[in-house]
Amino acid sequence: MIDHIIREHAEQTKRSPESSVLEVKHLSIYYGDKQAVKDVNMNIEKHAVTALIGPSGCGKSTFLRQINRMNDAIPSARSEGEILYEGLNILGEAVNVVSLRREIGMVFQKPNPFPKSIYNNITHALKYAGERRKAVLDDAVEESLTKAALWDEVKDRLHSSALSLSGGQQQRLCIARTLAMKPAVLLLDEPASALDPISNARIETLLTELK
Ligand SMILES: Nc1ncnc2c1ncn2[C@@H]1O[C@H](COP(=O)(O)OP(=O)(O)OP(=O)(O)O)[C@@H](O)[C@H]1O
Ligand SMILES: [Mg+2]
Repeated sequence: MIDHIIREHAEQTKRSPESSVLEVKHLSIYYGDKQAVKDVNMNIEKHAVTALIGPSGCGKSTFLRQINRMNDAIPSARSEGEILYEGLNILGEAVNVVSLRREIGMVFQKPNPFPKSIYNNITHALKYAGERRKAVLDDAVEESLTKAALWDEVKDRLHSSALSLSGGQQQRLCIARTLAMKPAVLLLDEPASALDPISNARIETLLTELK
């Protein structure tokens, strides 16, 4: 699984403890001179749901974005320390970030569907990865939309624009889009804050099932 993420990892010899999928070591993150995350050390266990709780502005989103390298897109952001994924430091320069994000998926607080159809939002990354078989793509659409508790609402309008969905539906679509890639790690930044209590409960049930 790891080989396609790391192009050169000869110097990487560390191994995670069996039960951890991620090991965070002395992680600090800065925006320019301002430190947003200070010396975080923690292990994230496999087959578990881990929640980060803290006041607004304490660095939760910054920390999550570092785990799949989304902070790379912020010019002023830099980090110190290591995040080991199955024993390899994903903050190293040799990491293939596109492959990393396929294994470590992320859903953001604000829904960000592509300006495409519902169907194409789900299949976009699969097609990019080379999948062309219609039956496989159709199955992925139904399965991921069902898991994200959206299938019944959209099954008759799969080729409508994703932007015609409500905010909460768009967020469930973004969750489905991420699930379709079957990531090993799912990073969720307050994904249910725009959802009604019933959708929220379904997402919580989904997370319990996934782990
Ligand atoms: N792109 C950025 N450039 C500069 N500073 C930033 C940037 N993004 C976040 N920060 C700052 O970093 C700190 C941590 O922000 P972050 O968004 O990680 O907090 P949070 O814990 O997710 O908060 P919330 O609960 O409100 O979502 C804050 O002081 C914020 O102002
Ligand atoms: Mg946040």
